[in-house]
Amino acid sequence: MQPSRGTKDILPNEIILWQTIYDKVKNILTLSDYKEIRTPIFENTEIFKRSIGSDTDIINKEMYSFKDRGGRDITLRPEGTASVIRAFLSNKLYASNEIHRMWYLGPMFRYERPQAGRQRQFHQLGVECIGSYNSLADAEVIRLAEKILNELNCINYTIEINCIGNQKERDVYKKKLTEYLLKYEQDLNEESKRRIKTNPLRILDSKDQKVQEILTNAPQIASHLELDSLQHFNELREHLNNSNIKYTINKNLIRGLDYYNCTAFEIKTDSEYQQNAICGGGRYDQLIQQLGGPNIPSVGWAIGIERLIKEIKKTFVVNNNKNIIYLANYGTKARKEIWKIINILEQEKIAFHLDLSNNNFQKQLKKAHKIGAKLCILLGNNEIENNILTIKNMDTGEQTQISCDNIYNYFKSIKKSLHLTN
Ligand code: HAM
Repeated sequence: MQPSRGTKDILPNEIILWQTIYDKVKNILTLSDYKEIRTPIFENTEIFKRSIGSDTDIINKEMYSFKDRGGRDITLRPEGTASVIRAFLSNKLYASNEIHRMWYLGPMFRYERPQAGRQRQFHQLGVECIGSYNSLADAEVIRLAEKILNELNCINYTIEINCIGNQKERDVYKKKLTEYLLKYEQDLNEESKRRIKTNPLRILDSKDQKVQEILTNAPQIASHLELDSLQHFNELREHLNNSNIKYTINKNLIRGLDYYNCTAFEIKTDSEYQQNAICGGGRYDQLIQQLGGPNIPSVGWAIGIERLIKEIKKTFVVNNNKNIIYLANYGTKARKEIWKIINILEQEKIAFHLDLSNNNFQKQLKKAHKIGAKLCILLGNNEIENNILTIKNMDTGEQTQISCDNIYNYFKSIKKSLHLTN
């Protein structure tokens, strides 16, 4: 039996990496006053249609949309920003008139052709800083992405930034670019020909070499930016320089979602895979208004967790040191008494593994050895009769017996010396 195409199980032996990412990210983002938000995995389809843009791949061909039993149009979220803004509006978070810094980590769904680094269910870690026009906000979020990647030992990447201007600047530029591209229409590939009419700016980040050659002499967005946009971009560059963040300017960087303005950025890894964009984001000052809310600017990004894991897996060291106590038990009376021991272990936060077989002690000890337990506690008829516990040190083979009246003190005393605490 196979999982659905484009989906993957995250197995128990991989989960430690996911938990480490979650813990580290939570610590880093909490320090900068970002708070976690969890929104539903599905939303009314309209939310995404109104946010992401009708000429984008996501809206045109990648959404998992369906009618529910009540006839409502529902879509599994293809990204997190639209949902966070919907939650911001539904819960009137704007009423407090302050900056809202939020983050999320969860599954997203896009009907794409699966390949290395591209899945139909994948996970994004995202941050959204809502409520500031200040270029410091752009710098703060980019710095956080860099910090997270570095702390997770993801080091081979490039931060690319661009300024894509405001709607008015883009409209003027779009016209000029379209005029230019029409002269070369015959030489463009089919996708770019189609995009001349629907979304010419997306042609800029085409991967087709011929298209890129044609673009060499095309008009550039940078020459169509007015003072405010230029100033914002220059300030951002200054902040990045001041915080020692290395970046390159990619004048052809255009994001695949339509809600962006001014700052756009991507972080690309040096990986051999085609899908090397590990993080994408930018400023989206009109989105909240576009969804019927007040005029509130925002900036944010999302990191693809599966792509991140591909990068850090090689260097991630799993702590296989199983500081665990094995609870071997035999006989009905022993099974009655074992809960007292379990209660104490839980209280002292000592990890344990309860044997569930009816095997003899010899076999249970073998199992304890196999899973790498530090100690094995044996509780059988002999122990019950004499009110004792037998304890075997699995490293040295040494066997001791302690009185049941002394269990609590015993665990307390050995906990530190054997590093048994989780
Ligand atoms: P995005 O560039 O569409 O931006 O996605 C962000 C990241 O999600 C990508 O850089 C990539 O690492 C990962 N990703 C996207 N699609 C897939 C896939 N099919 N399989 C695996 N990973 C994938 C957004 O989604 C925006 N909401 C980011 C944002 C937040 N902008 C402002 N705030």
